[in-house]
Amino acid sequence: MSHTTIAGEFVGGVPIGRIAAFRAREAETCLRARPRSHRTMAGGAEGYLADVPMHWMRDWPMPFPFVVESAKGTTIADIDGNVLADFCLGDTGSMFGHSPAPVAKAIRRQARRGLTTMLPGEDALEVGRLLVERFGLPLWQIATTATDANRFALRVARAITGRDKILVFNGCYHGAVDETMVRLEDGRPINRPGLAGEFRDLTQRTRIVEFNDVPALEAALAHGDVACVITEPVLTNSCMVLPDPGFHAALRETTRRHGALLLIDETHTISTGLGGYTRVHGLEPDLFVLGKPVAGGVPASIWGMSADVAERWAAYQARKQPGYSGMGTTLSANPLQFAAMRATLEEVMTQDAYRHMEKLAARLEKGLSAAIAKAGLPWHVARVGARVEFICAPGPLKNGAQAEAAHAPDLEAAIHVGLVNRGCLIAPFHNMMLVSPATRKSQVDRLVAAFGDIAGELSR
Ligand SMILES: Cc1ncc(COP(=O)(O)O)c(C=O)c1O
Repeated sequence: MSHTTIAGEFVGGVPIGRIAAFRAREAETCLRARPRSHRTMAGGAEGYLADVPMHWMRDWPMPFPFVVESAKGTTIADIDGNVLADFCLGDTGSMFGHSPAPVAKAIRRQARRGLTTMLPGEDALEVGRLLVERFGLPLWQIATTATDANRFALRVARAITGRDKILVFNGCYHGAVDETMVRLEDGRPINRPGLAGEFRDLTQRTRIVEFNDVPALEAALAHGDVACVITEPVLTNSCMVLPDPGFHAALRETTRRHGALLLIDETHTISTGLGGYTRVHGLEPDLFVLGKPVAGGVPASIWGMSADVAERWAAYQARKQPGYSGMGTTLSANPLQFAAMRATLEEVMTQDAYRHMEKLAARLEKGLSAAIAKAGLPWHVARVGARVEFICAPGPLKNGAQAEAAHAPDLEAAIHVGLVNRGCLIAPFHNMMLVSPATRKSQVDRLVAAFGDIAGELSR
């Protein structure tokens, strides 16, 4: 089923010609407001492959990536003096605002006391206690990215189950974890299109089914060869797909019955509330991963395990051949990470902060939905806590295939640039907007008004 209206000359209910004309006009406005960024970036930043320090910086829909002067709280300023209300927030890395004061202070303090030592300090000891209390799992490790945390947790899963396969849901993303890069095409597993330099058939070790499809999950796990199911509680890396009522209970029951572990990746769904979707909805993962905002923007990630997994891991360790485990990187668990993580967990990622985020995110969801209804467009809004998304297709979406079909890249890009010109920055991928503890009601209202203005123009 396709939710994207490509009937004749329309995408998402909007004539293609109108989208192109709108985008061209908005691109021109965006460019005129940024002469210095344009001079610097239009020809590419010197010394960088593909003109930018990291190739994703090219993926923004603006005519060129603008050069940031500073980011503080929920505003981001460029070198041309434009100030935007930031709802992208570093695609979740700064979900609790840019440079929260307690984190900035902790970083300054730690900068005078050593940045990497390969030994624990007092902050590390305190963080261990905080992780157990906050997320409920009894044992933890620290890594530097969510990608690495997922990789290491999957190694543990394979090691202790003695099984070689994992299972993912179509449309998933868990970072640059090779074995999760599988997709369903007409119901058949394939390597995710676009992978650079991949020489393996990843479908040999990865089973894949659609999210919310319990019979397919049951059939895939019945082979008895899956070490671990890895999933986000809500699919957030395609157009947003929420779990059907009862899906998580069925997922947990089925994995247990077939001896497969369950890894919940909360890197984006930490937007749900204190302790993430897991705590708020009472999930019972065997393995738990969180990266991005856990240290307030300093690169750090955490991965936790149940007592049962830890016990089996200890038994495995005792019989494992000595040598490098394939887990760990040199700068992981350094004192700067712990200083930032402690400040984040104690003073930034708090119940009060989530209350504020939830309230304003609900306001944003309501405002966007009303603007869509007013414009008479066949779009919808999805939300998981502080994470809100508008989708240029009808909803709700049930799985990754529908999410893929709902994606309307040209239309989304046009809206994105239109929002920038109206003072709001959203994520460059699938229209994601985050509300942080620093976000103000006036910023939400500004975003709703800007979106309404654009929806009105596109639907006219
Ligand atoms: C659910 C999820 N897991 C893991 C990652 C990887 O995070 P990182 O790029 O910081 O390794 C992402 C990144 O978007 C993600 O969305």
